[in-house]
Amino acid sequence: MINIAVLGYGTVGSGVVEVIEKNKEMVNKKAAQELDIKYILDLRDFPNDPYGHKVIHDFNQILKDDTVTIVCETMGGTGAAYEFTKQALERGKSVCTSNKELVAKHGPELLSIAKAHSCNYLFEASVGGGIPIIRPLNYSLTAEKIEAITGILNGTTNYILSKMEREGADFEEVLKRAQEKGYAERNPEADVEGYDACRKIAILSSLMLGKNVDSEKIYTEGISKISAADFAYAKAAGKTIKLLARSKTVSEDEVLAMVAPFMIDKEHPLSMVNGVFNAVFVTGNMLGDSMYYGKGAGKLPTASAVVSDVIDCARHPGRVIMCFWEQENIRLADVSLEERSFFIRARAGFQKEIEEAFPGGRLLCLEGREQDFGYFTPVMQENDFTGKYEALADRVLGRIRLL
Ligand code: HSE
Repeated sequence: MINIAVLGYGTVGSGVVEVIEKNKEMVNKKAAQELDIKYILDLRDFPNDPYGHKVIHDFNQILKDDTVTIVCETMGGTGAAYEFTKQALERGKSVCTSNKELVAKHGPELLSIAKAHSCNYLFEASVGGGIPIIRPLNYSLTAEKIEAITGILNGTTNYILSKMEREGADFEEVLKRAQEKGYAERNPEADVEGYDACRKIAILSSLMLGKNVDSEKIYTEGISKISAADFAYAKAAGKTIKLLARSKTVSEDEVLAMVAPFMIDKEHPLSMVNGVFNAVFVTGNMLGDSMYYGKGAGKLPTASAVVSDVIDCARHPGRVIMCFWEQENIRLADVSLEERSFFIRARAGFQKEIEEAFPGGRLLCLEGREQDFGYFTPVMQENDFTGKYEALADRVLGRIRLL
């Protein structure tokens, strides 16, 4: 029998207990032994919960119990979660987590502690919720040089953008409704400003190159400036708008990573990823493109990924599971040196100025829209674009990168 402790009895923690109990027979078979939830650590009591009697408040009880060999960290944050994870690993207890913030910030350090103590730090649930993406990168794609990863890695923003597109509604209005329905947090900043997607692409980029990508240095832009008008122009051009987290290998020591809204062609597979779904598009030098799609958030999908890691640990006691992620920081390429085309929405009456600033582009006027017009610039360096765009001051209403 393997004794497990769950840290944090919130949405994902209670999901972990539910998955292990609901799929008990199959989970035990795959783990090759019985998995038992011995402790649940939380600040609160759960007197009416069927597992309420397992709830404890002192982490030391778990730490000192040598029969607990696997810990599920579903607390979130980088404070107590970091301390508890470190201490558990130092005691040789494997830790399985959904905590993307902690993995992005301390992943390589925690992996090296795990290695030194012949146990594992696994984090399949930290990116893409229930979608298998960490394991494919660590196992299935090891013969590949990964050239690029492009993902829709945040369910909240994808839900908001999908609704804006479908209903022709503005950002603030859809956000408010998403909050009322529980699809967006009351403080939505981490999602809508792209920070959550940034942590996730930092994790994927680090695995892509085997070295550390510092999430704090990744260029990150959210979706709060996208409007219903932008979607009207995108639709007319056969495109849609998605918050993409992108990472491109520049060399063995350099990666170009960013999070920003992009206009993408309706034919691109990522344009079909709607609502709270996530997808990760991986380009390898031998395989070419592959895409991983599914539920990127939510109690049971995320818990399912945590439990898959628990099973992996149970099957490999005392063995370090393959994961290439060194502590050495990798260089981040300057996003402003990339070349691409841009969509501009500008105030009516300034067509001549826009065409003079960006000659050779494509004008897009929509019937019934007297107040503005759209313009697609030719491919140009972002630096060059930004200088010219900013000089246009209040003649322009917004800009979106094209993929
Ligand atoms: N807030 C996240 C999202 C949860 O919307 O995708 C899953 O990491």
